[in-house]
Amino acid sequence: MKKNKTGSNDFSEYIYQPQGKIPRPDEAVAGLPLKETQETEEDVVLNISLRPSKLTEFIGQKEMVTNLKVCLTAAKERKEPLEHILFSGPPGLGKTCLAHIIAHEMHSKITATSGPAIERAGDLIGILTNLEKGDILFIDEIHRMSKVVEEFLYPAMENFEIDFIIDKGPYAKTIKFHLKPFTLVGATTRTGLLSSPLRSRFGIFHHLDFYKIEELASVILRSAKILSVDIDKEASLGIAARARGTPRIANRLLRRVRDYAQVAKIKKIDLATAAKTLDEMGIDKAGLDELDRRVLRLVIDSFNGGPVGVESLAASMNEEVDTLIDTVEPYLLKAGYLKRTSRGRLVTKLTYEHFGMKYNKENQNELFEK
Ligand SMILES: Nc1ncnc2c1ncn2[C@@H]1O[C@H](COP(=O)(O)OP(=O)(O)OP(=O)(O)O)[C@@H](O)[C@H]1O
Ligand SMILES: [Mg+2]
Repeated sequence: MKKNKTGSNDFSEYIYQPQGKIPRPDEAVAGLPLKETQETEEDVVLNISLRPSKLTEFIGQKEMVTNLKVCLTAAKERKEPLEHILFSGPPGLGKTCLAHIIAHEMHSKITATSGPAIERAGDLIGILTNLEKGDILFIDEIHRMSKVVEEFLYPAMENFEIDFIIDKGPYAKTIKFHLKPFTLVGATTRTGLLSSPLRSRFGIFHHLDFYKIEELASVILRSAKILSVDIDKEASLGIAARARGTPRIANRLLRRVRDYAQVAKIKKIDLATAAKTLDEMGIDKAGLDELDRRVLRLVIDSFNGGPVGVESLAASMNEEVDTLIDTVEPYLLKAGYLKRTSRGRLVTKLTYEHFGMKYNKENQNELFEK
């Protein structure tokens, strides 16, 4: 077998399908949705340095951590690779983090890519055949993988083998290729979009939920220590309360408060400093930002409180439907500012109160829902 530049097996000449290039982990980032790329380069670098690398450093999600620990220990004792794992949940709750932690705990190598970055089944052949026993293959945004790629993955996940077609027309032949047992770690913000054959091939599922304020305060205190930022407990709780239940946002707010304190020559960050920075950033007491408020106000002002379809909302705002569904809605639903019904989205009494408006039940189309 011919070897490619990196010394691994090169199948390119056997593959009938037009061959796409194999995405490297850093290239795969280009396939990620907007929210990832919105972060500055500094944010991305700091995010990596703030990422816990061991399960014991992972804050919150207690039940999941306990279960995961059992699975990891059992697999290690049996000297077998871990079963395929699927992590789901809103952005920024630690799915990528967990994939790296698993690799670290299992002392194995991790190859990271994302659903949209794997354009053709051919892209996967190179990745899969280069995996060693026990390696972790991390596929982010796994729900955005094409159907063809997904079907190609089924035998790889199930029996650690792939079929590929060589030659064309009447000479076409299918060749089975055996892979070394690996662990696929998939991450998705939307389990609903995952096909059931794919879902059923995962042995372990974990849904990550929003974090409690005290847990986010611990994330902030941990990050502050790594970044050598002096901050008191009250301030960490103040930032946590406005972080939309999300560690990534908690870390981002901490960095902005740090900038403010540095410029204002404040040595130790207290609650007043944190609150002032967050107010100036347009993050209100409930942790809602500009975009959250725009969505809620639109439902109130233009749709009389709802129900309104998410497509109409996105079109009125000139935003992507996916951005609304993936990044804005989950927290608004969880915190009770928005309700999802079969006829669309509705705001609640809490939303009216948040804007200091009178909640007039007569005006609420909600009445007709029941
Ligand atoms: N439990 C945790 N403890 C400490 N820090 C955490 C925890 N979870 C997440 N973080 C921090 O939040 C950041 C974002 O986490 P991560 O990138 O894993 O989110 P994600 O769920 O993969 O998001 P996305 O869906 O957008 O890819 C990490 O850099 C890490 O610093
Ligand atoms: Mg991620």
